Amino acid sequence: MQSILHLENIYKSYFLGKLELPVLKGISLDINKNEYVALMGPSGSGKSTLMNILGCLDSPTDGKYILNGKDVSRMLDDELAVVRNKEIGFVFQQFNLLPRLTALENVGLPLIYSKGVSKKERIERAEAVLEKVKLTDRMHHKPNELSGGQCQRVAIARALINKPSIILADEPTGNLDSKTSHEIMEILGTIHDEGNTVILVTHEEDISNFARRVIRLRDGLIETDKINSNPTVILHTV
Ligand SMILES: Nc1ncnc2c1ncn2[C@@H]1O[C@H](COP(=O)(O)OP(=O)(O)OP(=O)(O)O)[C@@H](O)[C@H]1O
Ligand SMILES: [Mg+2]
Repeated sequence: MQSILHLENIYKSYFLGKLELPVLKGISLDINKNEYVALMGPSGSGKSTLMNILGCLDSPTDGKYILNGKDVSRMLDDELAVVRNKEIGFVFQQFNLLPRLTALENVGLPLIYSKGVSKKERIERAEAVLEKVKLTDRMHHKPNELSGGQCQRVAIARALINKPSIILADEPTGNLDSKTSHEIMEILGTIHDEGNTVILVTHEEDISNFARRVIRLRDGLIETDKINSNPTVILHTV
């Protein structure tokens, strides 16, 4: 099996002046291509910090991180940005959509910075990913004219626009009711079925049960790492 994410003894501290706050305290982990992983653990245990490192939004203080065969642990910010844009799609609890832009414009935004992508291609690709999340009929609406679940689908479409191989979702259902949460999990399930590696953070056991592997953090270390032999499968409802 090909390891797409390889972490070796990852440490991360935040520094407040001279004060060091150690958050990750030696994380070693391999995640293979097309795995579906839920990351759980108490508030403050380091889940988001780990996701930010996995997603090249931040660098570890110490340790080695090999992403898709490339050592990214010592890369500078602009090198990291290149890897991030190519490999990673992010979904956050707060959706992080720009309020003045339509769904279509929000989704196309990451392509504005891609050289060689025309406006026409940008719109076509944004339409295609919005179709995938079943939002074609709402694509000209702005976030405040959409429900929470629809906003999260826009955010997922935006995460997919650069055709990343890895989707990182930090509490993607944290602001949603349970029916809407299941719709979002159905979409993430489809993305996984299509060959992507999916890693999501959740506090909810029933959401983690969609994943095939559950990793629990406690106080900056991996407490348990277990295969879920009986994951929830959604029979198409959306
Ligand atoms: N940018 C930062 N600067 C300083 N400390 C930070 C920063 N980000 C996180 N921390 C601290 O690091 C610790 C771990 O935070 P992190 O956000 O990774 O936890 P979490 O497991 O995602 O928690 P939650 O479930 O509440 O989202 C916390 O004590 C937090 O206060
Ligand atoms: Mg968090």
